[in-house]
Amino acid sequence: MSIEINSPLDMHLHLRQDKMLKVVAPLSAKYFAGGLIMPNLIPPITSLEMVKEYKKEILESIDEEFVPYMTLFFKDSYDEEFLKSIKDEVLAIKLYPSGITTNSEGGANLQDLTSLYPVLKLMSELQIPLCVHGESEGFVMDREKEFVEVYENLAKTFPKLKIIMEHITTKNSVELLDKFENLYATITLHHLLITLDDVAGGFLKPHLFCKPIAKRPEDRAALLEVALKAHPKVMFGSDSAPHPLHAKESCGCAAGVFTAPIALQALAQLFEKKGYLENLESFVSLNAQKIYNITPIEKRIKLIKKEFKVPEKYGDVVPMFAGKTLSWSISEE
Ligand code: NCD
Ligand code: ZN
Repeated sequence: MSIEINSPLDMHLHLRQDKMLKVVAPLSAKYFAGGLIMPNLIPPITSLEMVKEYKKEILESIDEEFVPYMTLFFKDSYDEEFLKSIKDEVLAIKLYPSGITTNSEGGANLQDLTSLYPVLKLMSELQIPLCVHGESEGFVMDREKEFVEVYENLAKTFPKLKIIMEHITTKNSVELLDKFENLYATITLHHLLITLDDVAGGFLKPHLFCKPIAKRPEDRAALLEVALKAHPKVMFGSDSAPHPLHAKESCGCAAGVFTAPIALQALAQLFEKKGYLENLESFVSLNAQKIYNITPIEKRIKLIKKEFKVPEKYGDVVPMFAGKTLSWSISEE
């Protein structure tokens, strides 16, 4: 059995910098046509020069053709002139509540949402999509649920602004998709596969620890329902977030699951098992093309039902399914 996917896209990807970038960027570039590159570097990407410099650094790290769709780190201080100047260089602006996840210090203060309105109004007028890390500062299992009111507020206040709820993990977030025309979502591989039980129900699994944390079986079921059916408002975003081994296997484990090199194979395995293989191309490419209005480069990927032993490590990073065997692989022919 096999399936061809044209131009897979990963619409939420952390490529990091320096040594890590050199290890992980080629792995995404090998099988994906493009990816939406997250701006949470140290310091975060907040200027046109930084966007250009980072893009150059990414392109210098890869040999294959791959389009890094760049993003900017949201600041409520951006003005019209600045936003006009970056409009053609970025595909979206990413909003992080301050301190909510890896390298998000300096993010937005959500106590007073109106403080974000001037920039959001400009983004809406300039048609720059807003990507959001949607978590409150509440109890960890309730953070995304508590953020629903923020999404509702933003969706209602800016009906013309495209808002992408990043890496959704709950049934509540899924329900928002059909309530507001301007809300969209990315879904990761790991949130389609695991629940909190897999992270902390037995031995603690640091390599499955991420933000937002995996939730309940009913939440996973709701995510699966829209992903497998390739609901037109959802698209694949791996949130592949590499951290060196010592930062994961430590007291004070960094958040992030590294999935980029195994994502397509594991998605094929999942979609086949559930009987929805024919929807995989929409989930990993066509939906994103429509939502973001992009035409990716041609890249035909042939997935075949043949065992793939996942390496224990890529450089210094442990991938999801390290050392395990997946039933699908990517044809190198
Ligand atoms: C991401 C990272 O490490 O940059 N971590 C994560 O757990 N997903 C940041 C993020 O997307 O929240
Ligand atoms: Zn992320």
